[in-house]
Amino acid sequence: MHPQNQIMSLEQEISRRKTFGIISHPDAGKTTLTEKLLLFGGAIQEAGAVKSNKIKKGATSDFMEIERQRGISVATSVLAFDYRNKKINILDTPGHKDFAEDTFRTLTAVDSVIVVIDVAKGVEEQTIKLVEVCRMRNIPMLVFINKMDREGKDAFDLLDEVELKLNLRVTPLSWPIGIGSTFKGIYNIWEKNIQLFSNENKQKISEAIAFGNLEDPELETIIGETYAGDLRNEIELISEVYPSFSHEDYLEGHLQPVFFGSALNNFGVRELLNAFVDIAPQPQPKETDTRLVIPTDNTFTGFVFKIHANMDPKHRDRLAFIKIVSGKFERNKNYHHVRLDKNLKFSSPNAFFADKKEVVDESFAGDIVGLHDTGNFRIGDTLTEGENMSFKGIPSFSPEHFRYINNADPMKSKQLEKGIDQLMDEGVAQLFTLEMNNRKIIGTVGALQYEVIQYRLEHEYGAKATYEPISIHKACWVEVEDERSEEFQEFKRVKQRYLAYDKFKQLVFLADSSFTIQMTQEKYPSVKLHFVSEF
Ligand code: G4P
Repeated sequence: MHPQNQIMSLEQEISRRKTFGIISHPDAGKTTLTEKLLLFGGAIQEAGAVKSNKIKKGATSDFMEIERQRGISVATSVLAFDYRNKKINILDTPGHKDFAEDTFRTLTAVDSVIVVIDVAKGVEEQTIKLVEVCRMRNIPMLVFINKMDREGKDAFDLLDEVELKLNLRVTPLSWPIGIGSTFKGIYNIWEKNIQLFSNENKQKISEAIAFGNLEDPELETIIGETYAGDLRNEIELISEVYPSFSHEDYLEGHLQPVFFGSALNNFGVRELLNAFVDIAPQPQPKETDTRLVIPTDNTFTGFVFKIHANMDPKHRDRLAFIKIVSGKFERNKNYHHVRLDKNLKFSSPNAFFADKKEVVDESFAGDIVGLHDTGNFRIGDTLTEGENMSFKGIPSFSPEHFRYINNADPMKSKQLEKGIDQLMDEGVAQLFTLEMNNRKIIGTVGALQYEVIQYRLEHEYGAKATYEPISIHKACWVEVEDERSEEFQEFKRVKQRYLAYDKFKQLVFLADSSFTIQMTQEKYPSVKLHFVSEF
């Protein structure tokens, strides 16, 4: 019987799920790799089906266009497919740096990641930032060195770079034979076979040739004398220099296997996918403020990691993306919205597949469901079957840009307030309200968001906003042990003009320079300043 027709236990359903994200610097090949993985999974039939969500010139119009398309089809947010009896969920992570915050939040919903690196460009800026977040959370990572069909860096040099710049401990599980114009193929250390690259027919994937013993003279016949000699030497060097693969170390985030290939040419992708299916973790436990939640718990729990607005003003509904952390989510069942202390049920929860979304009756831990929302949800919200607890770990980072936001149409102040409120719930930007005079300040990761906010406020809420510059360097979340201490009272008095509250009513110190931060820390040592909202 086909496994999908069997009735599986909760444990079986959950253990066959693998939910991950692909991270990279823009242009390294994330979209191409995603598409090739879907092709192997049989989830799509032809290349070109996955829409790139790339903002090519960093232009607002690009972003609007992408968002408008996505409003119609949000299929690119989660791509799910079955492969070798596993259910694979790929979560989309925007590569553009102005949307890094969105990617950071999505990373709270994945159980592992694949890092894509361009062989010629090596480790790039966005990769460094994203990998750092994964490393801090010990998320298991696989590395895919892409574009081996092009001239690039020497494989050993590149691994050194990955170790140094990304602070990873790597071990190659595949190894290139030649590079660029001399690229011959790949020795798969994991499966012990050789796959040859055909320059003429790039879409045709050669059968892997099993090759357990590299000393076999047959190697010369297959790849030629020079390559055979080099390969033997290199594989020997690898066994001396790099740690051997340990599944446990990988799962704990202490060892990162590396694969080489060319996504565009379909090369090395199947090997990556097979190894991923063999070793990547199933849904993982997650901390709440009261206890650790285990995926196979019988009761459902989940949290909102993304909210997607419909940009069509006539249909102002939103889709809240919930990562199911434990149990089973069922259609039309009452669930408890912890922050609002309210019970809600959902008649049309969406599940996501590679090319469509569909209303489903049940989904399991590891899966993502999309719930239609009219304003109940905020990023980070927890749903349970009644238990009062909240998932941890969707922090906000200090924005890079700050501006006052002003109302340009006094007749529309209600609309403006509602618009700002909802956009902040979606996580488009962060709002800080000055303690002294209630003026509102919008903080963003990139300058692009200001235009996006203005545009959306006008088109979706009928409100007009203008901005005014303000000189702020960083938002620092304030932690203090004793709020009544003299030191804290003095800090509040002296820094009054720079104190604000975030959306969760946490106190924030808006520092105008790094020097100010340093001085403040020295003068008020009992007042701790954090660049992240969760500490
Ligand atoms: P991203 O999502 O990480 O931003 O990257 P994307 O997949 O869009 O790939 C960026 C560019 O790199 C694309 O070319 C893509 O065709 C190319 N590319 C991806 N994998 C490989 C590979 O293995 N070898 C080579 N040589 N190129 C690769 P483009 O010209 O920017 O876009 P397009 O017009 O081809 O879509």
